[in-house]
Amino acid sequence: MVRRSADGRVEVLSSIVASQIADHAPYGGVVPEIAARAHVEVIDLVTAEAMAAAGVEYADLTGIAATAGPGLVGGVMVGLSFGKAVALARGLPLVAVNHLEGHALSARLGADLPYPFLLLLVSGGHCQLLAVAGVGAHRRLGTTIDDAAGEAFDKIAKALGLGYPGGPALERLAEGGDPGRFELPRMLLGRAGCDFSFSGLKTAAARLAETVISDVERRDLASAVQAAIARQLAERTDRAMVQYARDHEGRALRFVVAGGVAANRAVRARLEETAAARGFSFTAPPLAYCTDNAAMIALVGAERLAAGMVDGLDAVARPRWPLDEAAAANRPTHPAGRKGAKA
Ligand code: KG4
Ligand code: ZN
Repeated sequence: MVRRSADGRVEVLSSIVASQIADHAPYGGVVPEIAARAHVEVIDLVTAEAMAAAGVEYADLTGIAATAGPGLVGGVMVGLSFGKAVALARGLPLVAVNHLEGHALSARLGADLPYPFLLLLVSGGHCQLLAVAGVGAHRRLGTTIDDAAGEAFDKIAKALGLGYPGGPALERLAEGGDPGRFELPRMLLGRAGCDFSFSGLKTAAARLAETVISDVERRDLASAVQAAIARQLAERTDRAMVQYARDHEGRALRFVVAGGVAANRAVRARLEETAAARGFSFTAPPLAYCTDNAAMIALVGAERLAAGMVDGLDAVARPRWPLDEAAAANRPTHPAGRKGAKA
């Protein structure tokens, strides 16, 4: 729950995260049916907990924000239906929020961050560079042509026999490792544009993981993987910064990294260096708002509500919902119905 004051300041009143990680862990990844059921089981309890923690009653609410996509549609439908029911029962406006816009604005939860800014959105399902001009105004500069960075972390971690989710586990394993011991492919190095590719790295690392046996080798491989992912993120971001600076001549240059992978310290450090070298300020959300959370969705809801951007009760749950619909339509990285990046 968030409160937005007339001056635009947003305060987080509560943000409750009901994790399903333990439900999915035995299967080594997210099981859609389990995800949907787990949402139904806790949605009313989590809402009550969030309201109690914020000290508010239904009568205090001025609007309802609910995620409408993109993502596993079972869980999205549960949250959206619940949001619609509360909006209908209480006569409140509904804002159907794009999960990615939540990540895009999440850095504004921890810092005074004006528009516009260049955003690197790196999560389990997405890896994109976006120029963010304001609420609902995003232009995509680059995206992954295969896996998302978080997906690469998760799959390589799995090959190394680490638990799910793999990103944080791989970061722990990599601590103190020698990133130079194993050579990994440098995907798209020097290639024009700002797109990403992680599949070659994933395959090479998985193959090495089969041969690597000692604990020290495992640690060094994890360290090399983390460094390779951080390096590609920084190299492609560097290109986007050049382009963005050209388009925003004479304006303040701001760079933001958001999404689950932004929690990774090596990734942050690498990006911070890149930003400094290009004259960009660097902002990352507080750790709790890097990975999926409700506060970032409420923030988008509050900002959209203030701008008069509300949705009808006929809003639909969308498994795919790119932030920059025009860019996605012009150059779809994954045709409809294929597995892969969701935007
Ligand atoms: O944003 P998020 O919570 O969910 C999505 O919308 O995808 O991101 C989850 C992803 C997972 O792939 C997870 O392994 C990765 O973020 N992640 C990390 C770290 N913490 C989370 N990857 C690397 N290092 C971390 N510390
Ligand atoms: Zn997310």
